[in-house]
Amino acid sequence: MINVAVLGYGVVGSGVVEIIKKNSLSISKKAFKEIKVKKILDIRDFPDSPERELITKNPDDVFDDPQIDIVVETIGGATIAYDFTKKALSMGKHVVTSNKELVATHGPELLALARQNQVNYLFEASVGGGIPIIRPLNRCLAANEIHSIVGILNGTTNYILSQMKREGKDFDVALKEAQKNGYAEADPTADIEGHDSCRKIAILSSIAYNEFVDYKFIYTEGITKISLTDLKYAESMNSTIKLIAFSEKIDDKIVAWVSPVIIGNGHPLAGVEDVFNAILINGDAIGEAMFYGRGAGKLPTASAVVADIIEVVKHLGSFGGYNWSLAEGDNVLDVMETQTRYMVRIKIKDHKNAKNDVTKVFNKIEWLNAFNMDNEEELAFVTEKVLEKDMRQNLEKLKQSEAVEEVINSIKVMEA
Ligand code: HSE
Repeated sequence: MINVAVLGYGVVGSGVVEIIKKNSLSISKKAFKEIKVKKILDIRDFPDSPERELITKNPDDVFDDPQIDIVVETIGGATIAYDFTKKALSMGKHVVTSNKELVATHGPELLALARQNQVNYLFEASVGGGIPIIRPLNRCLAANEIHSIVGILNGTTNYILSQMKREGKDFDVALKEAQKNGYAEADPTADIEGHDSCRKIAILSSIAYNEFVDYKFIYTEGITKISLTDLKYAESMNSTIKLIAFSEKIDDKIVAWVSPVIIGNGHPLAGVEDVFNAILINGDAIGEAMFYGRGAGKLPTASAVVADIIEVVKHLGSFGGYNWSLAEGDNVLDVMETQTRYMVRIKIKDHKNAKNDVTKVFNKIEWLNAFNMDNEEELAFVTEKVLEKDMRQNLEKLKQSEAVEEVINSIKVMEA
Protein backbone atom coordinates (compact mmCIF):
# COMPACT_ATOMS: atom_id res chain seq x y z
CA MET A 1 0.00 0.00 0.00
CA ILE A 2 1.27 3.47 -0.93
CA ASN A 3 -0.08 6.43 1.03
CA VAL A 4 -0.48 9.83 -0.53
CA ALA A 5 -1.06 13.23 1.06
CA VAL A 6 -2.68 15.99 -0.98
CA LEU A 7 -1.62 19.54 -0.07
CA GLY A 8 -4.28 22.02 -1.25
CA TYR A 9 -7.85 20.83 -1.76
CA GLY A 10 -8.79 23.22 -4.55
CA VAL A 11 -9.81 22.49 -8.14
CA VAL A 12 -6.88 20.19 -8.99
CA GLY A 13 -6.35 18.69 -5.51
CA SER A 14 -9.98 17.60 -5.23
CA GLY A 15 -9.77 16.17 -8.77
CA VAL A 16 -6.76 14.06 -7.72
CA VAL A 17 -8.65 12.61 -4.73
CA GLU A 18 -11.67 11.94 -6.96
CA ILE A 19 -9.69 10.07 -9.64
CA ILE A 20 -7.69 7.97 -7.15
CA LYS A 21 -10.97 6.82 -5.58
CA LYS A 22 -12.94 6.36 -8.78
CA ASN A 23 -10.26 4.45 -10.75
CA SER A 24 -8.58 2.71 -7.82
CA LEU A 25 -8.71 -0.78 -9.32
CA SER A 26 -7.13 0.04 -12.67
CA ILE A 27 -4.65 2.41 -11.00
CA SER A 28 -3.46 -0.31 -8.60
CA LYS A 29 -3.10 -2.76 -11.49
CA LYS A 30 -0.94 -0.30 -13.40
CA ALA A 31 1.13 0.64 -10.35
CA PHE A 32 1.37 -2.96 -9.02
CA LYS A 33 0.41 -1.50 -5.64
CA GLU A 34 -2.68 -0.08 -3.99
CA ILE A 35 -2.64 3.73 -3.74
CA LYS A 36 -4.61 5.52 -1.05
CA VAL A 37 -5.10 9.17 -0.06
CA LYS A 38 -4.28 9.24 3.66
CA LYS A 39 -4.40 12.97 4.39
CA ILE A 40 -5.54 16.21 2.78
CA LEU A 41 -3.99 19.44 4.02
CA ASP A 42 -5.86 22.71 3.60
CA ILE A 43 -6.41 25.80 5.74
CA ARG A 44 -10.07 25.98 4.72
CA ASP A 45 -13.04 24.13 6.24
CA PHE A 46 -14.91 21.58 4.14
CA PRO A 47 -17.75 20.51 6.48
CA ASP A 48 -19.83 18.96 3.68
CA SER A 49 -17.03 17.13 1.91
CA PRO A 50 -17.21 13.31 1.89
CA GLU A 51 -13.44 13.47 2.55
CA ARG A 52 -13.77 15.61 5.70
CA GLU A 53 -12.27 12.84 7.89
CA LEU A 54 -9.03 13.06 5.91
CA ILE A 55 -8.76 16.84 5.94
CA THR A 56 -6.37 18.50 8.38
CA LYS A 57 -5.02 22.01 8.91
CA ASN A 58 -1.89 20.74 10.62
CA PRO A 59 1.14 20.14 8.32
CA ASP A 60 2.68 17.84 10.99
CA ASP A 61 -0.07 15.31 10.24
CA VAL A 62 1.57 14.93 6.84
CA PHE A 63 5.26 15.47 7.48
CA ASP A 64 5.47 13.51 10.75
CA ASP A 65 3.73 10.51 9.27
CA PRO A 66 6.40 8.07 8.02
CA GLN A 67 3.73 6.07 6.21
CA ILE A 68 3.10 8.92 3.77
CA ASP A 69 5.39 8.20 0.81
CA ILE A 70 4.13 10.70 -1.77
CA VAL A 71 3.12 14.32 -1.35
CA VAL A 72 0.92 15.94 -4.00
CA GLU A 73 1.42 19.70 -4.03
CA THR A 74 -1.59 21.45 -5.55
CA ILE A 75 -1.39 24.63 -3.48
CA GLY A 76 0.11 26.78 -6.23
CA GLY A 77 2.41 29.80 -5.95
CA ALA A 78 6.03 29.82 -4.89
CA THR A 79 5.86 30.62 -1.18
CA ILE A 80 4.30 28.05 1.13
CA ALA A 81 4.32 25.47 -1.68
CA TYR A 82 8.11 26.00 -1.93
CA ASP A 83 8.63 25.42 1.80
CA PHE A 84 6.45 22.30 1.85
CA THR A 85 8.11 20.86 -1.26
CA LYS A 86 11.62 21.35 0.14
CA LYS A 87 10.58 19.84 3.43
CA ALA A 88 8.98 16.79 1.82
CA LEU A 89 11.94 16.12 -0.51
CA SER A 90 14.46 16.56 2.32
CA MET A 91 12.52 14.01 4.39
CA GLY A 92 12.69 11.48 1.54
CA LYS A 93 9.10 11.87 0.39
CA HIS A 94 8.38 12.00 -3.34
CA VAL A 95 6.60 15.11 -4.60
CA VAL A 96 4.20 15.39 -7.53
CA THR A 97 2.82 18.76 -8.58
CA SER A 98 0.84 20.83 -11.07
CA ASN A 99 2.57 24.01 -9.86
CA LYS A 100 4.23 25.61 -12.90
CA GLU A 101 5.17 28.78 -11.02
CA LEU A 102 7.20 26.82 -8.49
CA VAL A 103 8.83 24.56 -11.10
CA ALA A 104 9.73 27.49 -13.36
CA THR A 105 11.14 29.47 -10.42
CA HIS A 106 12.90 26.85 -8.28
CA GLY A 107 13.05 23.79 -10.57
CA PRO A 108 16.86 23.30 -10.56
CA GLU A 109 17.11 23.51 -6.78
CA LEU A 110 14.14 21.18 -6.17
CA LEU A 111 15.34 18.63 -8.74
CA ALA A 112 18.81 18.65 -7.17
CA LEU A 113 17.26 18.12 -3.74
CA ALA A 114 15.18 15.24 -5.06
CA ARG A 115 18.27 13.65 -6.61
CA GLN A 116 20.24 14.07 -3.39
CA ASN A 117 17.50 12.27 -1.47
CA GLN A 118 16.91 9.63 -4.18
CA VAL A 119 13.26 10.59 -4.53
CA ASN A 120 11.25 12.01 -7.43
CA TYR A 121 9.93 15.47 -8.16
CA LEU A 122 7.51 15.12 -11.07
CA PHE A 123 5.38 17.81 -12.70
CA GLU A 124 3.65 16.45 -15.81
CA ALA A 125 0.53 18.49 -14.91
CA SER A 126 2.44 21.76 -14.89
CA VAL A 127 2.23 22.10 -18.69
CA GLY A 128 -0.69 21.36 -21.00
CA GLY A 129 -3.13 20.15 -18.31
CA GLY A 130 -4.06 16.60 -19.26
CA ILE A 131 -1.83 16.43 -22.36
CA PRO A 132 1.12 14.06 -21.97
CA ILE A 133 4.03 16.30 -22.93
CA ILE A 134 6.81 16.47 -20.33
CA ARG A 135 7.45 12.73 -20.08
CA PRO A 136 7.07 12.15 -23.85
CA LEU A 137 9.52 14.99 -24.49
CA ASN A 138 12.00 13.64 -21.96
CA ARG A 139 11.56 9.94 -22.68
CA CYS A 140 9.90 9.09 -26.00
CA LEU A 141 11.70 11.88 -27.88
CA ALA A 142 14.95 11.52 -25.91
CA ALA A 143 16.87 10.43 -29.02
CA ASN A 144 16.25 13.78 -30.72
CA GLU A 145 17.99 17.10 -30.67
CA ILE A 146 14.96 19.31 -30.22
CA HIS A 147 14.98 22.32 -32.55
CA SER A 148 11.80 24.14 -31.58
CA ILE A 149 8.59 24.17 -29.58
CA VAL A 150 5.51 26.12 -30.67
CA GLY A 151 2.41 25.86 -28.54
CA ILE A 152 -0.87 27.12 -27.23
CA LEU A 153 -0.17 26.56 -23.54
CA ASN A 154 -2.92 28.42 -21.73
CA GLY A 155 -6.50 27.18 -21.69
CA THR A 156 -8.03 30.36 -20.26
CA THR A 157 -6.74 32.69 -22.96
CA ASN A 158 -7.46 30.21 -25.74
CA TYR A 159 -11.01 29.92 -24.41
CA ILE A 160 -11.36 33.73 -24.32
CA LEU A 161 -10.01 34.22 -27.87
CA SER A 162 -12.22 31.41 -29.23
CA GLN A 163 -15.34 32.81 -27.58
CA MET A 164 -14.57 36.33 -28.79
CA LYS A 165 -14.04 35.12 -32.34
CA ARG A 166 -16.82 32.55 -32.64
CA GLU A 167 -19.54 34.08 -30.45
CA GLY A 168 -18.51 37.75 -30.57
CA LYS A 169 -18.34 37.75 -26.75
CA ASP A 170 -16.64 40.53 -24.83
CA PHE A 171 -13.28 39.78 -23.27
CA ASP A 172 -14.60 40.16 -19.69
CA VAL A 173 -17.60 37.90 -20.25
CA ALA A 174 -15.41 35.16 -21.72
CA LEU A 175 -12.91 35.50 -18.86
CA LYS A 176 -15.68 35.10 -16.27
CA GLU A 177 -16.80 31.90 -18.01
CA ALA A 178 -13.24 30.56 -18.00
CA GLN A 179 -13.02 31.28 -14.26
CA LYS A 180 -16.37 29.57 -13.64
CA ASN A 181 -15.14 26.48 -15.53
CA GLY A 182 -12.07 26.24 -13.25
CA TYR A 183 -9.57 27.06 -16.01
CA ALA A 184 -8.11 30.33 -14.71
CA GLU A 185 -5.43 30.88 -12.08
CA ALA A 186 -6.46 32.26 -8.65
CA ASP A 187 -5.32 35.61 -10.03
CA PRO A 188 -6.24 35.48 -13.74
CA THR A 189 -3.71 38.21 -14.50
CA ALA A 190 -1.19 35.37 -14.82
CA ASP A 191 -3.29 33.91 -17.65
CA ILE A 192 -4.30 37.01 -19.58
CA GLU A 193 -0.92 38.75 -19.33
CA GLY A 194 0.86 35.62 -20.60
CA HIS A 195 2.86 34.82 -17.41
CA ASP A 196 1.36 31.33 -17.15
CA SER A 197 2.33 30.52 -20.77
CA CYS A 198 5.76 31.99 -20.11
CA ARG A 199 6.42 29.66 -17.17
CA LYS A 200 5.19 26.70 -19.23
CA ILE A 201 7.40 27.40 -22.26
CA ALA A 202 10.33 27.87 -19.84
CA ILE A 203 9.64 24.41 -18.36
CA LEU A 204 9.27 22.74 -21.78
CA SER A 205 12.42 24.43 -23.07
CA SER A 206 14.38 23.32 -20.01
CA ILE A 207 13.26 19.72 -20.61
CA ALA A 208 13.89 19.89 -24.36
CA TYR A 209 17.30 21.57 -24.32
CA ASN A 210 18.63 19.98 -21.07
CA GLU A 211 19.49 23.30 -19.51
CA PHE A 212 17.45 25.50 -17.23
CA VAL A 213 15.70 28.27 -19.13
CA ASP A 214 14.82 31.06 -16.75
CA TYR A 215 11.34 32.43 -17.45
CA LYS A 216 12.44 35.89 -16.35
CA PHE A 217 14.40 36.25 -19.62
CA ILE A 218 11.45 35.30 -21.84
CA TYR A 219 9.68 38.22 -23.52
CA THR A 220 6.00 37.99 -22.59
CA GLU A 221 2.93 39.76 -23.87
CA GLY A 222 -0.66 38.76 -23.08
CA ILE A 223 -3.99 39.14 -24.85
CA THR A 224 -5.46 42.13 -23.00
CA LYS A 225 -4.92 44.42 -25.99
CA ILE A 226 -6.63 42.07 -28.48
CA SER A 227 -10.02 43.36 -29.60
CA LEU A 228 -12.88 41.98 -31.68
CA THR A 229 -11.66 44.29 -34.48
CA ASP A 230 -8.18 42.70 -34.41
CA LEU A 231 -9.85 39.30 -34.73
CA LYS A 232 -11.85 40.56 -37.71
CA TYR A 233 -8.69 41.83 -39.39
CA ALA A 234 -7.12 38.41 -38.85
CA GLU A 235 -10.20 36.80 -40.37
CA SER A 236 -9.88 39.06 -43.42
CA MET A 237 -6.33 37.64 -43.77
CA ASN A 238 -7.73 34.07 -43.71
CA SER A 239 -6.10 33.77 -40.30
CA THR A 240 -6.86 33.79 -36.61
CA ILE A 241 -5.21 35.13 -33.43
CA LYS A 242 -3.72 32.78 -30.83
CA LEU A 243 -1.56 33.31 -27.76
CA ILE A 244 1.57 31.49 -28.87
CA ALA A 245 4.46 30.33 -26.72
CA PHE A 246 7.57 29.82 -28.83
CA SER A 247 11.09 28.57 -28.30
CA GLU A 248 13.87 27.59 -30.65
CA LYS A 249 17.45 26.51 -30.09
CA ILE A 250 19.90 28.33 -32.35
CA ASP A 251 23.50 27.28 -31.68
CA ASP A 252 24.07 27.91 -27.97
CA LYS A 253 21.21 30.41 -27.61
CA ILE A 254 17.49 29.98 -27.11
CA VAL A 255 14.98 32.25 -28.76
CA ALA A 256 11.84 32.31 -26.62
CA TRP A 257 8.79 34.49 -26.37
CA VAL A 258 5.06 34.53 -25.57
CA SER A 259 2.82 36.76 -27.64
CA PRO A 260 -0.49 36.98 -29.49
CA VAL A 261 0.14 35.94 -33.08
CA ILE A 262 -1.85 36.07 -36.29
CA ILE A 263 -1.58 32.57 -37.75
CA GLY A 264 -2.94 31.34 -41.06
CA ASN A 265 -6.00 29.10 -40.92
CA GLY A 266 -3.88 26.35 -42.48
CA HIS A 267 -1.51 26.29 -39.49
CA PRO A 268 -1.93 23.20 -37.27
CA LEU A 269 -2.53 25.41 -34.21
CA ALA A 270 -5.24 27.54 -35.87
CA GLY A 271 -8.04 25.05 -35.25
CA VAL A 272 -7.21 24.54 -31.56
CA GLU A 273 -10.23 26.03 -29.82
CA ASP A 274 -11.59 26.77 -26.34
CA VAL A 275 -9.77 25.18 -23.39
CA PHE A 276 -7.71 22.92 -25.65
CA ASN A 277 -3.93 23.30 -25.84
CA ALA A 278 -1.58 21.97 -28.48
CA ILE A 279 2.18 21.73 -28.73
CA LEU A 280 4.26 21.25 -31.89
CA ILE A 281 7.69 19.79 -31.26
CA ASN A 282 10.35 19.76 -33.94
CA GLY A 283 13.20 17.27 -33.46
CA ASP A 284 16.04 16.25 -35.77
CA ALA A 285 14.99 12.60 -36.00
CA ILE A 286 11.21 12.73 -35.68
CA GLY A 287 10.57 15.91 -37.67
CA GLU A 288 7.34 17.39 -36.37
CA ALA A 289 5.08 15.89 -33.68
CA MET A 290 1.93 17.47 -32.28
CA PHE A 291 0.35 16.94 -28.85
CA TYR A 292 -3.26 18.01 -28.32
CA GLY A 293 -5.82 17.91 -25.52
CA ARG A 294 -7.52 19.76 -22.68
CA GLY A 295 -5.05 22.25 -21.26
CA ALA A 296 -6.83 23.16 -18.03
CA GLY A 297 -9.65 22.12 -15.73
CA LYS A 298 -10.10 19.85 -12.75
CA LEU A 299 -10.04 16.30 -14.10
CA PRO A 300 -7.69 16.74 -17.10
CA THR A 301 -5.05 18.30 -14.83
CA ALA A 302 -5.67 15.75 -12.08
CA SER A 303 -5.26 13.00 -14.69
CA ALA A 304 -1.65 14.11 -15.23
CA VAL A 305 -0.99 14.38 -11.48
CA VAL A 306 -2.28 10.85 -10.82
CA ALA A 307 -0.20 9.52 -13.73
CA ASP A 308 2.87 10.98 -12.02
CA ILE A 309 1.89 9.29 -8.75
CA ILE A 310 1.74 5.95 -10.60
CA GLU A 311 5.12 6.71 -12.22
CA VAL A 312 6.63 7.36 -8.79
CA VAL A 313 5.19 4.12 -7.39
CA LYS A 314 6.71 2.17 -10.27
CA HIS A 315 10.16 3.68 -9.60
CA LEU A 316 10.31 3.88 -5.83
CA GLY A 317 13.83 4.31 -4.46
CA SER A 318 15.29 5.94 -7.55
CA PHE A 319 15.54 9.42 -9.00
CA GLY A 320 14.14 9.52 -12.52
CA GLY A 321 13.97 13.29 -12.86
CA TYR A 322 15.43 15.81 -15.24
CA ASN A 323 18.91 17.11 -15.80
CA TRP A 324 18.62 20.89 -15.61
CA SER A 325 22.12 22.18 -15.60
CA LEU A 326 22.21 25.86 -14.87
CA ALA A 327 23.39 27.69 -17.96
CA GLU A 328 26.10 30.24 -17.35
CA GLY A 329 24.36 33.57 -17.44
CA ASP A 330 21.50 34.38 -19.72
CA ASN A 331 21.09 31.66 -22.36
CA VAL A 332 18.01 33.32 -23.88
CA LEU A 333 18.60 35.56 -26.89
CA ASP A 334 17.58 39.18 -26.38
CA VAL A 335 14.13 39.56 -27.94
CA MET A 336 15.32 42.75 -29.65
CA GLU A 337 17.46 40.55 -31.93
CA THR A 338 14.53 38.38 -33.07
CA GLN A 339 12.53 39.12 -36.19
CA THR A 340 9.03 38.57 -37.48
CA ARG A 341 6.32 40.14 -39.64
CA TYR A 342 3.72 42.39 -38.03
CA MET A 343 0.17 43.50 -38.71
CA VAL A 344 -0.12 47.14 -37.68
CA ARG A 345 -3.28 49.20 -37.20
CA ILE A 346 -3.08 52.97 -36.96
CA LYS A 347 -5.70 55.61 -36.33
CA ILE A 348 -5.17 58.46 -38.77
CA LYS A 349 -5.92 62.16 -39.09
CA ASP A 350 -5.01 62.53 -42.72
CA HIS A 351 -5.36 59.54 -45.04
CA LYS A 352 -2.94 60.50 -47.83
CA ASN A 353 -0.13 61.80 -45.63
CA ALA A 354 -0.48 58.89 -43.21
CA LYS A 355 -0.02 56.47 -46.11
CA ASN A 356 3.05 58.38 -47.27
CA ASP A 357 4.57 58.38 -43.80
CA VAL A 358 3.98 54.65 -43.36
CA THR A 359 5.79 53.89 -46.61
CA LYS A 360 8.64 56.19 -45.58
CA VAL A 361 9.11 54.40 -42.24
CA PHE A 362 8.75 50.81 -43.46
CA ASN A 363 10.69 49.44 -46.42
CA LYS A 364 8.00 47.28 -47.86
CA ILE A 365 4.48 46.73 -46.60
CA GLU A 366 1.23 45.21 -47.78
CA TRP A 367 -1.90 47.31 -47.21
CA LEU A 368 -4.89 45.49 -45.79
CA ASN A 369 -8.24 46.22 -47.33
CA ALA A 370 -10.30 46.08 -44.21
CA PHE A 371 -13.69 44.34 -44.06
CA ASN A 372 -16.18 47.21 -44.27
CA MET A 373 -13.97 49.56 -42.27
CA ASP A 374 -14.18 53.26 -42.86
CA ASN A 375 -10.70 53.73 -44.29
CA GLU A 376 -10.80 57.45 -43.57
CA GLU A 377 -10.21 56.70 -39.88
CA GLU A 378 -7.93 53.75 -39.82
CA LEU A 379 -5.19 52.09 -41.83
CA ALA A 380 -3.83 48.59 -41.47
CA PHE A 381 -0.84 46.94 -43.08
CA VAL A 382 1.49 43.96 -42.81
CA THR A 383 5.24 44.49 -42.65
CA GLU A 384 8.06 42.36 -43.98
CA LYS A 385 10.17 40.47 -41.46
CA VAL A 386 11.64 43.13 -39.21
CA LEU A 387 13.96 43.01 -36.20
CA GLU A 388 12.12 43.69 -32.95
CA LYS A 389 14.44 46.62 -32.12
CA ASP A 390 13.80 48.18 -35.56
CA MET A 391 10.07 47.56 -35.24
CA ARG A 392 9.93 49.48 -31.99
CA GLN A 393 11.84 52.38 -33.50
CA ASN A 394 9.57 52.36 -36.53
CA LEU A 395 6.44 52.52 -34.37
CA GLU A 396 7.95 55.45 -32.46
CA LYS A 397 8.57 57.23 -35.79
CA LEU A 398 4.96 56.59 -36.84
CA LYS A 399 3.72 58.08 -33.59
CA GLN A 400 5.66 61.27 -34.43
CA SER A 401 3.81 61.68 -37.74
CA GLU A 402 1.37 64.61 -37.88
CA ALA A 403 -0.98 62.46 -39.92
CA VAL A 404 -1.14 59.62 -37.40
CA GLU A 405 -3.28 59.94 -34.29
CA GLU A 406 -2.21 56.68 -32.62
CA VAL A 407 -0.88 53.20 -33.20
CA ILE A 408 -3.85 51.04 -32.23
CA ASN A 409 -2.09 47.70 -32.17
CA SER A 410 0.77 45.74 -33.68
CA ILE A 411 0.52 41.95 -33.71
CA LYS A 412 3.07 39.35 -34.80
CA VAL A 413 2.23 37.44 -38.00
CA MET A 414 3.54 33.87 -38.30
CA GLU A 415 3.96 31.89 -41.48
CA ALA A 416 2.00 28.66 -41.79
N1 HSE B 1 -4.75 28.69 -15.80
C1 HSE B 1 -4.15 27.63 -16.52
C2 HSE B 1 -4.69 27.66 -17.95
C3 HSE B 1 -4.45 26.33 -15.85
O1 HSE B 1 -5.71 28.34 -18.19
O2 HSE B 1 -4.12 27.04 -18.83
C4 HSE B 1 -3.70 25.14 -16.40
O3 HSE B 1 -2.32 25.26 -16.20
